[in-house]
Amino acid sequence: MTTDVPNAVVPSEFSRPANPEDAELVHKVYCAAPRYFEIISIPDPSVIEVRGELEAAFLDKRRFTELLFAPDQDTCSDIIDPQTGRQIVGYLDYKLDYPDAGDGTVNLLLIIESLQSKGLGRHFVNNLESRLRGQVKRLLASIYGQNHRAERFWKTLGYSFAIDAKPVLDWYAKTL
Ligand SMILES: CC(C)(COP(=O)(O)OP(=O)(O)OC[C@H]1O[C@@H](n2cnc3c(N)ncnc32)[C@H](O)[C@@H]1OP(=O)(O)O)[C@@H](O)C(=O)NCCC(=O)NCCS
Repeated sequence: MTTDVPNAVVPSEFSRPANPEDAELVHKVYCAAPRYFEIISIPDPSVIEVRGELEAAFLDKRRFTELLFAPDQDTCSDIIDPQTGRQIVGYLDYKLDYPDAGDGTVNLLLIIESLQSKGLGRHFVNNLESRLRGQVKRLLASIYGQNHRAERFWKTLGYSFAIDAKPVLDWYAKTL
C-alpha cells in the first residue's frame, strides 16, 4: 500500500469538491435521499456528523468528496449551490489507492431520489471512470447492507462482485 499523495484528479465540469463548510449542503442532499439510509439501516446523519465526515475526507489526501451538478437543462433540482448557482443533484465520495495501490474505491454515489433512474448515476460513473483512466487500474464500488438496487446498478455498468466483507459490505470492481 502506498502512502504517496496521488496525482490530482482531473476536475469535472459537472462537480466541485465538497469541503467541511459544505456540510449543510451535503446534509440537504442526504435528506433528499432518505430511502438510502433506510436500506443501510442507519438514522439520517445530522449536519454535525456530515461535517465530521467531510473533515475526515479533507484531511485524507487520497479521499475526494464532490457535489454533483445537473448535467443538462432537462434535469432540475431545488438544491442550489450558493458558490456557483448551479443545481445539485447528488454527492460522490471516493478514495484512491484503496484498498490497494492502483485501485480507486467509490465509497458513496448518491443521486437525490426525485432524480433517480434517469441515467444520472450512469453519467457520473462514466465521468469518474474517464477522469481516473490512466491513473487507476481498477475501480471498485463499496455497497453497504442489503442494497440490491445498488448491486444491479453497478453490475449494469460492468462491475462484478470482487470482495465479500459481509455482513456489512460487498465490493464490486471493474478494470479501467
Ligand atoms: C444507485 C444510484 C446511484 C443509481 O443512480 P441512478 O441515477 O438512479 O441510476 P441510472 O438511472 O443511471 O441507472 C443506471 C442503471 O442502473 C440500473 N437501475 C437504475 N435504477 C434502477 C431501479 N430502480 N431498479 C433496478 N435497476 C435500476 C439500471 O440497470 C440502469 O440501467 P439503464 O439506464 O440501462 O436502465 C441511485 O439509485 C442512488 O443514489 N441510490 C442511493 C445511494 C446508493 O445506494 N448508492 C450506491 C452505493 S455506492
